[in-house]
Amino acid sequence: MNNGHREQWASRIGFILAAAGSAVGLGNIWRFSYVAGEQGGAAFVFIYLIAILLIGYPLMVTEIAIGRKTQKNPIGAFKSLAPDTPWWIVGALGVLTAFVILSFYSVVAGWSLAYTFKAFGGFVPGLDYEGIFISHITDVYMPIFWHAAFMILTLVIIASGVVKGIQRWSKVLMPLLFAILLALVVRGLTLEGAGAGVAFYLTPDFTEISGETFLTALGQAFFTLSLGMGALITYGSYLSQKENVSDSAGWVVGMDTLVALLAGFAIFPAVFAIGFDPAGGVGLAFITLPAVFAEMPLGGLFGFLFFLLLTIAALTSAISLLEVVVAWLIDEKGWDRLKASMLMGLIIFVVGLPPTLGYSVLSGVTIFGMDILDTYDFLSGNILLPLGGLLTSIFAGYIWRAKSVIDEANNPKGKIVFGQWYGYVIQYLLPLAIGAVLIWGIISTFI
Ligand code: PFF
Ligand code: NA
Repeated sequence: MNNGHREQWASRIGFILAAAGSAVGLGNIWRFSYVAGEQGGAAFVFIYLIAILLIGYPLMVTEIAIGRKTQKNPIGAFKSLAPDTPWWIVGALGVLTAFVILSFYSVVAGWSLAYTFKAFGGFVPGLDYEGIFISHITDVYMPIFWHAAFMILTLVIIASGVVKGIQRWSKVLMPLLFAILLALVVRGLTLEGAGAGVAFYLTPDFTEISGETFLTALGQAFFTLSLGMGALITYGSYLSQKENVSDSAGWVVGMDTLVALLAGFAIFPAVFAIGFDPAGGVGLAFITLPAVFAEMPLGGLFGFLFFLLLTIAALTSAISLLEVVVAWLIDEKGWDRLKASMLMGLIIFVVGLPPTLGYSVLSGVTIFGMDILDTYDFLSGNILLPLGGLLTSIFAGYIWRAKSVIDEANNPKGKIVFGQWYGYVIQYLLPLAIGAVLIWGIISTFI
């Protein structure tokens, strides 16, 4: 249904909530806690926060500005700002990255969906939550079933369109997730033995820092803010000229960061209280949180609500990933929305099968010591997203030009004003910092 009239968000709040819906997801709770746990805690969190502020925020404004200026999907956007050049490849890299991320994101979201139903059995004290998690992921059929269920939910929403589909869903549910997270923080902090977890989370030990820590922190900043692959170019393309870009982005970054930091307070004190290993990997949140629910009155009910809301948060992120791919097919190839959503949903489901089976039939397969899901996660989060961000900042600083971004970011004038400083940030700070961390991080991870 491409009749020349492009959909727009119905209001500023609509855009902010949709972009925050894209940002806030499994990245804040599942991925943030497991990478922070693996990378030693507080020192990692400190570097992550610097990356959010110095790199994440300016890049988010840049991506939204590119989208709003061009009113296009990522490939179309680069084409229209730099016609007859190879810069469209950056957009294409984003579309490719969306495939990889969504395919494993849906697998983890499937775990969350499954846990929503597991909560009905009640989360009660004394159960072996590690064993329960392992038996869930090592089963062959259940993870496939939940992965498929989640992909179907995602494509149904995308097939119904930007405003009706995405915006409606992003509105009421986030505040509720936030409230449950707060309750979890209180319960986690008051468990016996929680102090060691607070120390792990808040007392940095910079002696353990390596290139890998920096790369993981940078990758996490990109992943959590949905940067480096054109999701926010796409969402910005539906933003009206009446709304200010830099203020809206400020809200999105603030909300995302708050949820991640709270998730850390909900998880790490509990990890130590139950005597679990913070470097326990992808299962950290799924093993720890049920144990916390078990210690709460009405734990089953809270657990059910929490995993339901986590699944919905994942859904509002997944739809932004699928929308990148679908918007490209609609804009550039003239496909209709329904057909594009269905076919791409199916392909992504298939690409997601190897990580789904990575703990059962394919459990023998490892790449550089990582299982298949870790490999998808590492490749997309720590390599493809920073690479996309690096190229986007070079493009914005030297091809489209800082001045154009500044004009778009300040139009109409908002509270946060972009000035000349942005020129230095986009031309020097971002390319040098991202480039250096990528090279150093890759070397120190693999050598
Ligand atoms: N930002 C999402 C999260 O933190 O869960 C994940 C994500 C969504 C990454 C959309 C990239 C993206 F384009
Ligand atoms: Na996030």
